[in-house]
Amino acid sequence: MVMALSTLSSSFLLSLLLFSATHAFDPCSSSSSPSADSELSVFHIYGKCSPFSTPKRESWVDTVINMATKDPERVTYLSSLVSRKATSVPIASGQQAMNIGNYVVRVKIGTPGQVMFMVIDTSNDAAWVPCSGCSGCSNTVFTPNTSSTFGSMDCKMPECAQVRGMSCPTADSSPCLFNQTYGGDSSFSATLSQDSLSLATDVVPNFAFGCINAVSGGSVPPQGLLGLGRGSMSLLSQTQSLYSGVFSYCFPSFKSYYFSGSLKLGPVGQPKSIRTTPLLRNPHRPSLYYVNLTGISVGKVLVPVAPELLAFDPNTGAGTIIDSGTVITRFVQPVYTAIRDEFRKQINAPISSLGAFDTCFKTTYEAEKPAVTLHFTGMDLTLPTENTLIHSSAGSLTCLAMAAAPNNVNTVLNVIANLQQQNLRVLFDVPNSRLGIARELCN
Ligand SMILES: *[C@@H]1O[C@H](CO)[C@@H](O)[C@H](O)[C@H]1NC(C)=O
Ligand SMILES: *[C@@H]1O[C@H](CO)[C@@H](O)[C@H](O)[C@H]1NC(C)=O
Ligand SMILES: *[C@@H]1O[C@H](CO)[C@@H](O)[C@H](O)[C@H]1NC(C)=O
Repeated sequence: MVMALSTLSSSFLLSLLLFSATHAFDPCSSSSSPSADSELSVFHIYGKCSPFSTPKRESWVDTVINMATKDPERVTYLSSLVSRKATSVPIASGQQAMNIGNYVVRVKIGTPGQVMFMVIDTSNDAAWVPCSGCSGCSNTVFTPNTSSTFGSMDCKMPECAQVRGMSCPTADSSPCLFNQTYGGDSSFSATLSQDSLSLATDVVPNFAFGCINAVSGGSVPPQGLLGLGRGSMSLLSQTQSLYSGVFSYCFPSFKSYYFSGSLKLGPVGQPKSIRTTPLLRNPHRPSLYYVNLTGISVGKVLVPVAPELLAFDPNTGAGTIIDSGTVITRFVQPVYTAIRDEFRKQINAPISSLGAFDTCFKTTYEAEKPAVTLHFTGMDLTLPTENTLIHSSAGSLTCLAMAAAPNNVNTVLNVIANLQQQNLRVLFDVPNSRLGIARELCN
């Protein structure tokens, strides 16, 4: 049986009513964009304001649940990243999961600017867009030949060797072509290119990205990708002088198809008082944002877990990352089991399962629900109710919105995901090696 799930604490219908009462204007028009220079609206990829939203045959909550069913694939991908020894990992990062993220921002590329909606992904350094003339791409494409600032980069540029992971056969002035595989049997070929990238009112001249020419063995997702990792060719690295390696986001609530959040780039306008925890750097995987999760409490009980299941180990890749592309938080199996068992004990209700969720109970027991607190070095995060539970749209079942990492991979990675980050300002301060979290109603 398939049941629709909705996020907790207000029904979808109520969200819609509130929405129409408070937002009479079109939520997707640029007039509703944040006004600061370096601030962009962030949309759910299948939400109303995204060009990738599908005609609504299913409820929004079902869309969210379907997105969550792709998590195991992404967690498997992230786990494969950490368990492999990296050489250079910029744009051509080898295996690339199809499921590349859940949020899009609106940017402009070229002169005059062409509007592109690009997926933001904190666990990726890549930037690429489907380009005109591409065989196998959808029709959401960038047209280089109408941009006066476009240029393709050639083989003898040092960036080319970084992207290809090897030098060109002949170090000449032919275009820097590279192939990238993803999802096992699909690949695309692209030309390393550069053009102006406009982010809100900021312009990044000569931004390097992959311009996709051909796709084989499947299809690339129609949107471009704007990785927010901190590796060598990432947006952060390329905008060092503009943004100094600092950004924050607030992801919109999962309550509504219409909501948007924001991405703030650069140190200006970031929250002044915010609790922080050190960002840890794995030299083998510089793009991933590791933090030190030291324990988890359910209610007042610190869940018993062996410290080595949470410990950061750059050699094995073990530890905890903050990720923008996974829907529900995944813990390694023994950690999840310990959290779940304590949660079940405190809720003291008959437990059933639903889809990916194995700890569901009748909504009438909700008053008993314990809070879940994530303890990081120097910072505790007690999750708001909507970041902990989801419930069926029929209203009868509530589920703990977390799960174990897929058991088909020998994963050592805990992933703090979107649902647990909604309506929080998450600050990535790379120069000061810290990650901050503050409550914020961002939609
Ligand atoms: C630009 O390229 C597209 C596709 O490659 C082509 O159809 C179009 O005519 C070109 N436009 C100009 C101005 O060259
Ligand atoms: C990319 O793949 C195509 C088709 O398989 C091949 O012809 C081409 O040589 C490859 N290019 C690179 C740079 O590996
Ligand atoms: C993480 O926190 C634990 C417990 O406080 C500490 O022992 C460990 O050294 C920390 N790890 C890192 C990498 O900071």
